[in-house]
Amino acid sequence: MCKLSRNDPCWCGSGKKYKSCHLKQDLMRRRTPRKSAPQRNGIIIKTDAQVAGIRASCQLTSEILDTLETRIVAGITTDQINTWVHEATVARGAVPAPLNYRGFPKSTCTSLNEMVCHGIPDGTRLQDGDILNVDVTCILAGYYGDSSRMFLIGNVSEEARRLVTVTKECLDMGIAQVQPGNQFGDIGHAIQTHAESHGFSVVRAFVGHGVGIQFHEPPNVTHYGHRHTGPILEPNMVFTIEPMINAGAYQVKILDDGWTTITADGSLSAQWEHTVRVTESGVEVLTA
Ligand code: MF3
Ligand code: CO
Ligand code: CO
Repeated sequence: MCKLSRNDPCWCGSGKKYKSCHLKQDLMRRRTPRKSAPQRNGIIIKTDAQVAGIRASCQLTSEILDTLETRIVAGITTDQINTWVHEATVARGAVPAPLNYRGFPKSTCTSLNEMVCHGIPDGTRLQDGDILNVDVTCILAGYYGDSSRMFLIGNVSEEARRLVTVTKECLDMGIAQVQPGNQFGDIGHAIQTHAESHGFSVVRAFVGHGVGIQFHEPPNVTHYGHRHTGPILEPNMVFTIEPMINAGAYQVKILDDGWTTITADGSLSAQWEHTVRVTESGVEVLTA
């Protein structure tokens, strides 16, 4: 194909000079499309359009968790919770991200008492005194929103309630570290310091993660660590913070199903998770 000069007649037949007709449009179109989103250390900096899509998915995730608040009571099964999550998700035109993710067989994770994470919904009936994490991730219009909450069943022991409360405080203190210029180590340090000050331990084997375009993106967001270490937070990074805190030691075991993760010492474990975005001045909790 031959190249038109600026003063040649435009190819469109308008009779105008190329420079005052289609030149600009052609140059725009010829600009090579971005092969991938801009990144820092492999961490995707989301565009405003991507943020809008992730925000909508995160809001749906939060709404689905809201619908569980009054429904989760003693006597129901974790399979029933799975059905509620699945149906609420597809009713809104979204897809439950866990289903078939690396072979995961259900649409949500239900982790009971000594389960740390990735519990598989089944016929287990909730009993008075149980503590339960339900982890919901939606894919809405291709964008991921990831959040989990704890549910207390009936009369829960003082010690279990303290674990659940402190774990929520750990999440909130991690979120409070999210602002441009801070580092990922600041988040982990705040969480670890708070958990250990209450005699609890921070699970090492699972971490938070970048999220939004994929279920799990860089970076790993550890819930332990040192201040002033790790990648620097920049506006429009989107990631989860999801501390798993054990009443006993931090070590875990994965059961033969390849998913269910329990505390090695059989102690109780709690987890809360939000998807957050770094803003120009601080943080937006997308799954609030
Ligand atoms: N939602 C979990 C997380 O917070 C991941 C679950 S993976 C699954 O990262 F396959 F178990 F669903
Ligand atoms: Co997550
Ligand atoms: Co999750």
